Amino acid sequence: MKKQFIAGNWKMNLTLNKARDLAKSICEGLADSNTVDVGIFPPFVYLKDICDILQSSNVFVGAQNMSMEKSGAFTGEISGEMLRDIGCTHVIIGHSERRTIFKETDHIINSKIKSALLNGLCPILCVGESQKERDTGKTDEVVDGQLSGSLENLTSEQVKGLTIAYEPVWAIGTGKTATPDQANEVHACIRNIIRKKYDNSTAQSVRIQYGGSVNSNNAKELLGQLEIDGALVGGASLDPDSFLDIVSGAVRHA
Ligand code: PGA
Repeated sequence: MKKQFIAGNWKMNLTLNKARDLAKSICEGLADSNTVDVGIFPPFVYLKDICDILQSSNVFVGAQNMSMEKSGAFTGEISGEMLRDIGCTHVIIGHSERRTIFKETDHIINSKIKSALLNGLCPILCVGESQKERDTGKTDEVVDGQLSGSLENLTSEQVKGLTIAYEPVWAIGTGKTATPDQANEVHACIRNIIRKKYDNSTAQSVRIQYGGSVNSNNAKELLGQLEIDGALVGGASLDPDSFLDIVSGAVRHA
């Protein structure tokens, strides 16, 4: 049985004090609940502080991005080794904002995933279609292409350790959520793609989160879908009460 995984992507928000307070409130609100995996993804500059605050808690801390390079002359970049060194366990890779604003290709995303794994970080790989792609019936094809490129040359053992976040671009930060049925359908498609590329046990092991305007009102129904193993939450993860409500809506699947 897979545990649900609720992740909070803080994006480029908060000040150091606010970030510390938010991390503390989340940690206190969770008490020692062990039935759901919870992770937070603060901006780079707050990571060390938040890792220290949450050191003896169950909450995972991860970065929102990382370099595909090991080290060297890459001004402004942060390596997987650095993230691991300060206590991060996870990293979001290929978020749609990285793909569109920063022009990250599936090839770059593939290199980042490999580098994350080499450094013992658990990647959350984001995939998802735009509104236009959905309107023209291309959702499955787009997701298949993103997965093929991003997972190139990864073994089934490596893929088993991944979390995939299905985040329809049209639902991110728009208040427009995929319906539970729409999301569940694409999650089933993603699992099928993994089954075809690897095998059934890999497809069953990988956790697939839904992301895109998840909030405390819609989380429970989304998380109740058979193929949905968690949520990647943006806006609502900045408010401790909303985020904790989403976590408490996470149910376990048989
Ligand atoms: P949102 O963002 O919850 O604010 O829509 C989700 C994400 O971008 O990961």
